Amino acid sequence: MSVMAGAHQFSDDVVLIGGCGHAGLPLAIVLADRGASVVIYDVSDAKVKHVNDAELPFDEPGAAPLLRKVVDSGRLRATTDPSAVGSAQNIIVVVGTPVDEHLNPDPQAIPAALGVCTDYLRDGQLLILRSTVYPGVTGLVERMMAEQGHDVDVAFCPERIAEGRAMTELCSLPQIVSGCSERASRRAAELFGLLTDSIVELEPEEAELAKLFTNTWRYIKFAAVNQFYMIANSRGLDFERIRAAVAQDYPRAHDIPGAGFAAGPCLFKDTMQLAAFTDNQFHLGHAAMLVNEGLPLYVVSRLEERYDLSTMTVGILGMSFKGDSDDTRSSLSYKLKRILAFKAKNVLTTDPYVRTDPQLLPLGQVLAQADLLVVATPHSLYRELAVDKPVADIWNVLGRGVRV
Ligand SMILES: NC(=O)c1ccc[n+]([C@@H]2O[C@H](COP(=O)([O-])OP(=O)(O)OC[C@H]3O[C@@H](n4cnc5c(N)ncnc54)[C@H](O)[C@@H]3O)[C@@H](O)[C@H]2O)c1
Repeated sequence: MSVMAGAHQFSDDVVLIGGCGHAGLPLAIVLADRGASVVIYDVSDAKVKHVNDAELPFDEPGAAPLLRKVVDSGRLRATTDPSAVGSAQNIIVVVGTPVDEHLNPDPQAIPAALGVCTDYLRDGQLLILRSTVYPGVTGLVERMMAEQGHDVDVAFCPERIAEGRAMTELCSLPQIVSGCSERASRRAAELFGLLTDSIVELEPEEAELAKLFTNTWRYIKFAAVNQFYMIANSRGLDFERIRAAVAQDYPRAHDIPGAGFAAGPCLFKDTMQLAAFTDNQFHLGHAAMLVNEGLPLYVVSRLEERYDLSTMTVGILGMSFKGDSDDTRSSLSYKLKRILAFKAKNVLTTDPYVRTDPQLLPLGQVLAQADLLVVATPHSLYRELAVDKPVADIWNVLGRGVRV
């Protein structure tokens, strides 16, 4: 299927730069499933092999059968060869955009990834940034293209899926589309029209901020409830009982989340991108970071008040950053582990999904050997656990209350 006029000069419809990742691969799969001919260019040999073997490099519910289908049909393939960037009418850049160890964003992450591909760009292509970018990066890329003499249209169309829900959300969420020209917007809207009829048009800087606001809003909401949790808990009260009462049949608070570790590869770093954008005067964002990143320290301090941790083996249940996920990036479970390694006699860790951590132990062993347990990640299967030892469960996964 040709998704754009003039696609006859190109052998593929879409190429995704960084398309073997958590955001890129679901999009590649869905675009291919909707009829586009898709190629992924990615620097990871291992992930490219996984994709070409029709194996997901990470868990994403519902993606595996579709990946098999689109690879077998020849509509999706992956390569580490950057010349693939010249094969398609539409280029989507979805490489990672982390902040550094001093919480600085790197506005050059996208230009650097594109730099390797410069020789293969072709006039007439549409270049879409899908990564979450520091405001102004879309304009920077447009200038970079012009300076290099490339006649390409540049657009920014942020990815807003949540990991674990990608396969449904890609086609159910509205797509925010912004182009550096009317033609770029129109072409990007046409491409994302493969996913949904609900296209929301913005200017590029508006769209860049829209994406950062989306994640920061969520991060601040989690911080608010985590602070409420600490207030209630320090008073000896069960925050979950209060939260449930507030939310019950009360429309203005129906979406108040429960307390829990708020981390992962996006919310924290995008809040810090916004902080850098405001010359580090984003007090609310920094306060949210202090609350969310401080929660593991608070939990351990509370446990220290009740137990002599130096004589105890503590078991951590769940090491991924969110429930029912194998993704450990920026997981606060590891911060908790570091703190406990300093305070406790011994720390044991387990996770049913994570395959990349050789120190993980089977759940049964951790349950048997630990004197005290901390539920760090709300995996659904922990709901079934019968635990006969002290447990700190701020998520209320075990339904025994959240007091620590
Ligand atoms: N993970 C999500 O659910 C999600 C949701 C919305 C937005 N985002 C945004 O999407 C972007 C990507 O995030 P992610 O979680 O998919 O990251 P990721 O690390 O899972 O994937 C990035 C991919 O890019 C590849 N890569 C890195 N440098 C490259 C280069 N120079 N050329 C080609 N390939 C390269 C990596 O090998 C990897 O496969 C980020 O900006 C993130 O904020 C992610």
